[in-house]
Amino acid sequence: MKAGYSKKVMELFLNPKNVGAMEDADVTAIAGSVACGDMIKLYIKMDGDKIGKITFESYGCAASIATSSMITEMVKGKSIDYASKISLQDELKELGGLPKVKYHCAILAIKALRMAIEKWNVMNGKRKLDEDFVRTLLGAILDPYTGKNIMAAGVVKGIEIDGKKIKIDVKLSDNKEFNEEIASGIEEVFEKMDVEVKINAV
Ligand code: FES
Repeated sequence: MKAGYSKKVMELFLNPKNVGAMEDADVTAIAGSVACGDMIKLYIKMDGDKIGKITFESYGCAASIATSSMITEMVKGKSIDYASKISLQDELKELGGLPKVKYHCAILAIKALRMAIEKWNVMNGKRKLDEDFVRTLLGAILDPYTGKNIMAAGVVKGIEIDGKKIKIDVKLSDNKEFNEEIASGIEEVFEKMDVEVKINAV
């Protein structure tokens, strides 16, 4: 154990599996952590109804890299249904444990996986594209001003959905860079989806 990390966690941190962006992914998902401001992104290429290929990018700590890598290993080749049932407990078991202060890093990996599955289900008509779904996606974007997600920070003032058209009312700040970051975050969470997203500055 190093810094409270199990052998498996250290192994995956030093030699993470399934790292990197995937150009031809069918679905991507990002999840951000309010606890530390870190973020991970998952890329999935489907093979029928199975997860054919899955990779990740992590902008987080050692535990985030290890837990993201673990999740990708756990669901590779498995069905969406199987992947949707993976819990924090399952992940911790595979990792040989994790210091409690690092649980949020493991939760981040699970959140990204669930987000990818939700997106996949919406893209395939198995889940409705409703306000709840849009709120969940937007909840992954961190507001650089407050460190909260943009829903919790009150940046998003309204959501209107009309078929595949989504209008998001966003309260802009006086910081151009922050506004651009939020706009690109919004664009990124809807990546790979056949929707038209309009950001409406209020
Ligand atoms: Fe931020 Fe681990 S992901 S501390």
